Amino acid sequence: MKILVIHGPNLNLLGTRNTEIYGTRTLAEINVIIVEHAKKRGATVTLYQNNHEGNIIDKIHELAAKDPQDPHQALIINPGAYTHYSFAIRDAIEAVGVPAVEVHLSDIQAREEFRSRSVIAPVCRQQIVGLGYQSYLRAIDWIVAEAGRSRPG
Ligand code: DQA
Repeated sequence: MKILVIHGPNLNLLGTRNTEIYGTRTLAEINVIIVEHAKKRGATVTLYQNNHEGNIIDKIHELAAKDPQDPHQALIINPGAYTHYSFAIRDAIEAVGVPAVEVHLSDIQAREEFRSRSVIAPVCRQQIVGLGYQSYLRAIDWIVAEAGRSRPG
């Protein structure tokens, strides 16, 4: 099982950005935890961070070329502020048709009004919020469990 993990804009600043909301771990530290957790669950992850909408869309498009021998590919995405208005990222996820989980470090429902709306959620199978970096780990768990449920036999 291969999982692409995309971190959207400003998440490269984790560790110094609004630490009371997002915690003190840097993205590099979180990525190490994600890789180790995935390994424990028998999955491998590819990690990608970008601040630009088009680059994120190009990365999502790479999932369309998935290996037919490895049908359990999945996407975990924290679209950052694009969550709230990027119909282009929404459409890219829908177009590639790969199971996607939307994650957020913070609880987007419990913050400013503009954050409570996700235009990405309707094309994702699951949304996990408010658990800090552990949101990513729960997303891995969900994807691995879901793959187990849908595997024939
Ligand atoms: C975030 C929530 C977004 O509203 C915000 O713009 C971010 C981070 C989160 O992980 O909590 O950049 O996606």
